[in-house]
Amino acid sequence: MGEPDGSPNFFLLTFCKRACILTHSPENAISLRGVSKRYDSLQALNNVSLDIKQGEFFGLLGPNGAGKSTLISALAGLLRVDNGELSVMGANVQTDYRRARQNLGVVPQEIVMDPFFSVRETLQFQSGYYGVRNNDEWIDELLEQLNLADKADTNMRKLSGGMKRRVLIAQALVHKPKVLVLDEPTAGVDVELRQSMWRFVRRLHREGHTIVLTTHYLEEAEELCDRIAIINKGEVIALETKEDLLARGLGSKLLVRATHTIETVPKEYQDRVTRLEGNELEMIIHRDSDSVMEILDRLRAASMKIDFVSVLSDSLEDVFVRLTGEQEGQ
Ligand SMILES: Nc1ncnc2c1ncn2[C@@H]1O[C@H](COP(=O)(O)OP(=O)(O)O)[C@@H](O)[C@H]1O
Ligand SMILES: [Mg+2]
Repeated sequence: MGEPDGSPNFFLLTFCKRACILTHSPENAISLRGVSKRYDSLQALNNVSLDIKQGEFFGLLGPNGAGKSTLISALAGLLRVDNGELSVMGANVQTDYRRARQNLGVVPQEIVMDPFFSVRETLQFQSGYYGVRNNDEWIDELLEQLNLADKADTNMRKLSGGMKRRVLIAQALVHKPKVLVLDEPTAGVDVELRQSMWRFVRRLHREGHTIVLTTHYLEEAEELCDRIAIINKGEVIALETKEDLLARGLGSKLLVRATHTIETVPKEYQDRVTRLEGNELEMIIHRDSDSVMEILDRLRAASMKIDFVSVLSDSLEDVFVRLTGEQEGQ
């Protein structure tokens, strides 16, 4: 006979189990619970809940106006939400702001800087804001890593847009936060700088930082992120690993090139056509249920003379467009 529920042993066991779970599950880097924010008639965030684990490279994607920057401002404590809880490394943003802020570095979407300071002064000033003293060694390392060393004494107003972006990243890192959030850091940045920026961010990730990235460039998210949330009109509409998200699309596309201009597509395929130009036809195929051979036979039967066939996998952009109904990216 076991112990009846309610016995001291039962409670002890339950308590131990709880304690074990608590000590063995590391805190989430970021935790959002039911976060809502309204601007007059616009519901910018609607009951957003999501957890980002420590050490993840997480992508926050969504069309313009989806609420990504609003969410990031709320996380940084720069914006008061109407409802919900936000925490960074277990510190509640509303009630334990100092600790939350110490753990978080944010690279904002908009460049706002004092044009009268030099790069080094800007970083020293930022260190002071976080109460970090004698930070010169770390500032030098940041300048070095972000290829800003020769600009240390240059006034901010004399820097190019790309250089300013690098300073924003350095600024977000002066207090060595565990979690780094980058809000569209590569918008309008040239390819070379983008690549060196990613090298640096990847290194931070390897060294154990949690990275949250918002980007317009979906191929960038596809390359870098482990897990992705898609947010649309203030709501999370997908939250999955990149692989699951890519597999979730309808499947793939079939590209067929014919020897002549394609005049007619068999009726049963007409609503799957994504492109029909000259002698090229692109259509969606369902990975599980379609036989490419059968489709090709039917196209041939409709007097199409085919000289090239290719199956294209879904990109993150295809999935994104299908989920949000909007065209994002370049
Ligand atoms: N201060 C504000 N006052 C009123 N509306 C705002 C304000 N900030 C953002 N919005 C609106 O909230 C929505 C979400 O904006 P934002 O968070 O910047 O989206 P995203 O970063 O995903 O492009 C948009 O419709 C935007 O116009
Ligand atoms: Mg934004």
